[in-house]
Amino acid sequence: MRNAGEEISRPAIARGADIIRTGGVVAFPTETVYGLGADAYNAEAVARIFEIKGRPRFDPLIVHICDIASAESLAAEFPPQALLLAEKFWPGPLTLILRKRPVIPGIVTAGMPTVAIRMPSHPSALELIRLAGVPIAAPSANPFGRISPTTAEHVREQLADTVDFIINGGPCTVGVESTIVSLAGDKPVLLRPGGTPAEEIEKITGPLTVPERSEGPPESPGRLDSHYAPRTPLYLKADARPLPKSARAGLLAFRTPEETEGFAAVEVLSKKGSLREAAANLFAAMHRLDALDLDVIIADPPPEEGLGRAVNDRLRRAARQSR
Ligand code: TXA
Ligand code: MG
Repeated sequence: MRNAGEEISRPAIARGADIIRTGGVVAFPTETVYGLGADAYNAEAVARIFEIKGRPRFDPLIVHICDIASAESLAAEFPPQALLLAEKFWPGPLTLILRKRPVIPGIVTAGMPTVAIRMPSHPSALELIRLAGVPIAAPSANPFGRISPTTAEHVREQLADTVDFIINGGPCTVGVESTIVSLAGDKPVLLRPGGTPAEEIEKITGPLTVPERSEGPPESPGRLDSHYAPRTPLYLKADARPLPKSARAGLLAFRTPEETEGFAAVEVLSKKGSLREAAANLFAAMHRLDALDLDVIIADPPPEEGLGRAVNDRLRRAARQSR
């Protein structure tokens, strides 16, 4: 196996593209979070992604493309609404679920008749896809269920030498994963709130349906109850019970808190109360608190609007395992 190197430069992107073309697995920056990519047409290379992440095979991957023509070559149908959304939000943090063409290996889509497609806006990601010459299947570059990586350092800490190469593109500017919208059925469905505010999407699609949680295999496993979780138990402020005096607690606050007494550590997501800034800081702040060996993390969430919806979704799922 190749050594996991790490560089920030055009040669690094060219090397990453070579590795992907020859069946390897490369961690790369996107504007949302770091991805763990392989040639989407190479089932064996994609299988390694699942092994490295410890991800169940029923959880399908997003296929990353660098132009609309590639998206059209993956989707069996590209409905007019999909085209409107792609024109408005690509490149950027929006993933579209469309009916798939048979060329895509079943392992990528977990045997589903649909495929998730996204055109990232990070210049290194776009260049990597272009140079590789193939669509890149990539989940977030973290072990399954854990905190997503927004720096190359996070990838190195969590996946170390299991990947062939890490392209360092600096910290991710959006900081939460893409919004996922399904256009494969009768009505547009919001499967995951993310980096593109749902309100903006609804200006084009009209109201998005938000599915109820159902039993059985989830429609979009990013919606699995417990996900994005630190090792330290995390509670939303509203659900937190009084702490014993001896407990070392961390506070994860949306904006500068009025009261911090009793907390061993405090992370403020946005002093000025910007939802965009809070999203960009969320996972790095969670990583930092999780590294302090605290007994508990208390999260004081932002309002449920714009990017606050994605931040709250991640916080709720991070809290789920602590119940
Ligand atoms: O911003 C992002 O979307 C990042 C970067 C790397 O692009 N990727 C990402 O991938 O978040 P991942 O694998 O962590 O989350 C992808 C989500 C999963 O919840 C998966 O279940 C869902 O997309 N998904 C993939 N294909 C699907 C499909 N055909 N139907 C429904 N959900 C799908
Ligand atoms: Mg993920």
